[in-house]
Amino acid sequence: MSDKVSINLGSGHWKLEGWVNVDLDLDSEPQVCADLSGGLPFADGSADLMHTEDFIDQLTIEGARQFLCECHRILRPGGVLRVLTPDLAELARRYIEDAEGLVALWKTYVGVGLETGSAGEVFNLGMRFAGHTFIYDGETFTRLCQQCGFDARRQSFNQSDISELRGLDLRGPENSVSMYFDCYRLET
Ligand SMILES: C[S@@+](CC[C@H](N)C(=O)[O-])C[C@H]1O[C@@H](n2cnc3c(N)ncnc32)[C@H](O)[C@@H]1O
Repeated sequence: MSDKVSINLGSGHWKLEGWVNVDLDLDSEPQVCADLSGGLPFADGSADLMHTEDFIDQLTIEGARQFLCECHRILRPGGVLRVLTPDLAELARRYIEDAEGLVALWKTYVGVGLETGSAGEVFNLGMRFAGHTFIYDGETFTRLCQQCGFDARRQSFNQSDISELRGLDLRGPENSVSMYFDCYRLET
């Protein structure tokens, strides 16, 4: 097992083995129970790696900026934060180019009933479902990361230049419209 300190933020019931899993929901039995919309309960430079899947989209964009700045504070120099979040551009692309596929994805993997079964309904719900507050496209997310001292490099499903960050992703192209970033902590 790696001796690196690795923190998984907004872990929910899908906890990563060997990582410090953090969530607000006590029922998911995280190692650390904390509200991540405020400051994060970790010391400066105390983590090597961080991971967060389908959490940052639950925050307002101002909240996400504060969250990313906190991740920057906690990561040691050279540390990396992996972020998965729905991709607005991919959701829009599928709505325009593959409406049937988008509805099928929703029915198969989300399963929440639809009033009309249309792609437009799925697009609307996709923006708001399950606490979604702000859905990023790659450019918006990359710019926000820059403001918080990160170089956000686009990756693909389960791929990373960092071995410990490979194979952790739950959501792939078959069952989601996720995008994948390894955010390298820059010196500021
Ligand atoms: C959509 S779930 C994602 C869970 C898991 N990462 C996954 O990919 O399946 C979002 C998680 O964020 C947690 N969460 C939402 N708001 C939070 C907050 N303010 N502080 C800490 N955790 C929060 C929820 O309890 C939930 O477990």
